[in-house]
Amino acid sequence: MSMLAVPTEQRSEKSRVICEGDVVVVYERHDRMKAVTVAKNGELQNRFGVFPHNEWMGKEFGCQVKGRNGAGFVYLLAPTPELWTLALPHRTQILYIADISFVVSFLELRPGSVVLESGTGSGSLTHSLARAVAPTGHVHTFDFHEQRANAAREDFARNGVSGVVTVKVRDIQGEGFPEELAGCVDGVFLDLPQPWLAIPSVVRSLRPDGLVCSFSPCIEQVQRTCEVLSKHQFADIRTFEVLLRSYEVRHENLSTSFECSEQTFSKEATKSPPHKRQRGEVDEKGGPESEGHAEDPNGGSKTAAGSIVKQSRPVIARPYPETKGHTGYLTFARQATCM
Ligand SMILES: C[S@@+](CC[C@H](N)C(=O)[O-])C[C@H]1O[C@@H](n2cnc3c(N)ncnc32)[C@H](O)[C@@H]1O
Repeated sequence: MSMLAVPTEQRSEKSRVICEGDVVVVYERHDRMKAVTVAKNGELQNRFGVFPHNEWMGKEFGCQVKGRNGAGFVYLLAPTPELWTLALPHRTQILYIADISFVVSFLELRPGSVVLESGTGSGSLTHSLARAVAPTGHVHTFDFHEQRANAAREDFARNGVSGVVTVKVRDIQGEGFPEELAGCVDGVFLDLPQPWLAIPSVVRSLRPDGLVCSFSPCIEQVQRTCEVLSKHQFADIRTFEVLLRSYEVRHENLSTSFECSEQTFSKEATKSPPHKRQRGEVDEKGGPESEGHAEDPNGGSKTAAGSIVKQSRPVIARPYPETKGHTGYLTFARQATCM
């Protein structure tokens, strides 16, 4: 199944069903995914058990499947550029979704756009570029590392995006982008150690009003790139650092202890008759049933010391302690036309 967007009206029931040869993203958790090509008599083994591919065929993408020993389950997801970024084989450092989505938006990509990229690396960004410009646009991506370019080409074919992506081996810092693309490119993306060396060739490639973006991990690289962009009359030069703050959302057992006298507890207890809540019943504050101690009328339990322990399982959202930090700087600029 292709990773490129298919308009809903063209999508038959069959295209959502898993077939032999399909790439499936096996999802255990948001940070634990694996891309698997479905093969007759193939098996996936993980900590949840053994998953025979034969049992996946004919099921819908998005389904949950249990391991052979029934100990656990995984979800079988249709590959998308976003999931691929999380599941791909790392051959280099890669761009992640926060930077990727920013790049696609700020390069103003749309169906029909022509984009140049270097280096290809692991192809993480390339898949999102391909989907943005499909079906009538094209991504020309270049890497001077032959094995990396070949491996990326295989991934693009496997994921059904090679119709809109061409991979070539080329030293972009040394040779620049090919002359035959000069003047007809809408956007250029650079992820190179010395991007400023490629700027003269970017100038030749871009159409008037076209956009360039350069990703660099170090501010010294950004400074040199900006100097060269400025020298070549680029307009609207801006640098961004995209920082993502993720929150984990989950139910948490909360116990609140209230000190009170025996008298207070008895007085409260006479206000309303004790009500034994049913399993799964939610109290008026939104907390699900409490477990464990004997219940008080207000959903708490009384301990021997005379305190009431309130128990609830509210949904909690809090930032992950290991929030991802700096990945790099994104510098954008627009090709200005001098009158
Ligand atoms: C960090 S990786 C790019 C990762 C890519 N953006 C992704 O998201 O998967 C940088 C790539 O640039 C390539 N590269 C470095 N210098 C180059 C040059 N002069 N010409 C072409 N490619 C180059 C490297 O081989 C490497 O694969």
